[in-house]
Amino acid sequence: MSSRPTPVELEALTHARRLALNGRGRVSPNPLVGAVVLRDGETVGEGWHEGPGEAHAEVMALADAGDRARGATVVCTLEPCSHFGRTPPCTDALRAAGVARVVIGCLDPLERTRGQGVSILRQSGVDVALAVGDDEAACREINAAFLTAAVRRRPHVMLKLATSLDGKIATADGESRWITGPDSRALVHRWRADVDAVVVGIGTALADDPQLTARNVDGPLRQPMRVVFDSHARLPLDSGLVRTAGEIPVTVFTTEAADKARIDALADRGVRVLRERGDRPHPLEAMRLLGAEGVQSVLVEGGAVLAAAFVGAGAVDLVNWFVAPILIGGADAPGALAGPGFGPLADVPRLQDVESERVGEDILVSGRLTAIPGVLGSEEGT
Ligand SMILES: NC(=O)c1ccc[n+]([C@@H]2O[C@H](COP(=O)([O-])OP(=O)(O)OC[C@H]3O[C@@H](n4cnc5c(N)ncnc54)[C@H](OP(=O)(O)O)[C@@H]3O)[C@@H](O)[C@H]2O)c1
Repeated sequence: MSSRPTPVELEALTHARRLALNGRGRVSPNPLVGAVVLRDGETVGEGWHEGPGEAHAEVMALADAGDRARGATVVCTLEPCSHFGRTPPCTDALRAAGVARVVIGCLDPLERTRGQGVSILRQSGVDVALAVGDDEAACREINAAFLTAAVRRRPHVMLKLATSLDGKIATADGESRWITGPDSRALVHRWRADVDAVVVGIGTALADDPQLTARNVDGPLRQPMRVVFDSHARLPLDSGLVRTAGEIPVTVFTTEAADKARIDALADRGVRVLRERGDRPHPLEAMRLLGAEGVQSVLVEGGAVLAAAFVGAGAVDLVNWFVAPILIGGADAPGALAGPGFGPLADVPRLQDVESERVGEDILVSGRLTAIPGVLGSEEGT
């Protein structure tokens, strides 16, 4: 058999990626994984990972296929695990089921385990084929958060902003709700449900008093941790965030300059307050701290000052930028990124893999500021 996937297997791999997405918002800190069992080119079993402690995708697909798995091909989006975690190794399940061939979308990112699933299967006489190029990249893309956390030891950070066509995030009077239409706002709620944490600056928390919860989202819903960058612990005790801190966690990154009484008052109401050194909490340090706790994905929702700080610190991986077909105008109306800016022009951050789509009447422009980590052990750090 070929060491590269056949066209039928690549079609199954695309389907396996779709299956993997069923676990969106629930699998962290595990990866999203989908698997398909193929027999004579027909799908006879499928599965996806539903979350920590639940069966892995390969095991679910094998169970779905039953006896038809013997001599069949299993197509999975990520290298099957070869170690005991909360569940036994998938390589054991694949061998026990007597599968003849395994097609793998991308390898395990961790240096200590990477390639082991492949070699154990090959040693057992199972034919293994690895996806390459766009097919492999697509499998890495669905796990951008898992891969970033594993390789860079911090969460994957998505920056979301919404501007008028002339690049304003609010009017000169500070009015900013709503710049985008309902479809864009619904998409943001979907993203909130997908990530482990949502971050805003204290400017936004004071101006908008947001809840930062995911609302009106189909399917099982897990609320993200809400995080505020707030050097002086100014977050009001009667804010929506503080009032709901008992039900959905709120973390405030502050500094040693913050008033102890204010910190205590927030803590008394169930807010976790983390004090950092320096004038302001540093985006990358804060992200590393959250990463060490198992937070793999973060959505930064602004505002302009914090967004610029994240971009400037190299702490943004993916940009999702809504442009609404309105003109706000006004020299005093804030633009989307405050601070001194990133010139000279030759050196400003430039998005890669840029895509655009219509979302209702708005246009969503997406692009990456960092590459999704591959499996290179040398990619440690950011
Ligand atoms: N259209 C959109 O997409 C969108 C999104 C969000 C907000 N908004 C609008 O934007 C406005 C608020 O934006 P904003 O720019 O004034 O506030 P912001 O970016 O939400 O918050 C800025 C504040 O965060 C604090 N901060 C803590 N750590 C920081 C760090 N490392 N770097 C930078 N800042 C840090 C600083 O205050 P301390 O020094 O006190 O800590 C800073 O002044 C509101 O009108 C809101 O409605 C629009």
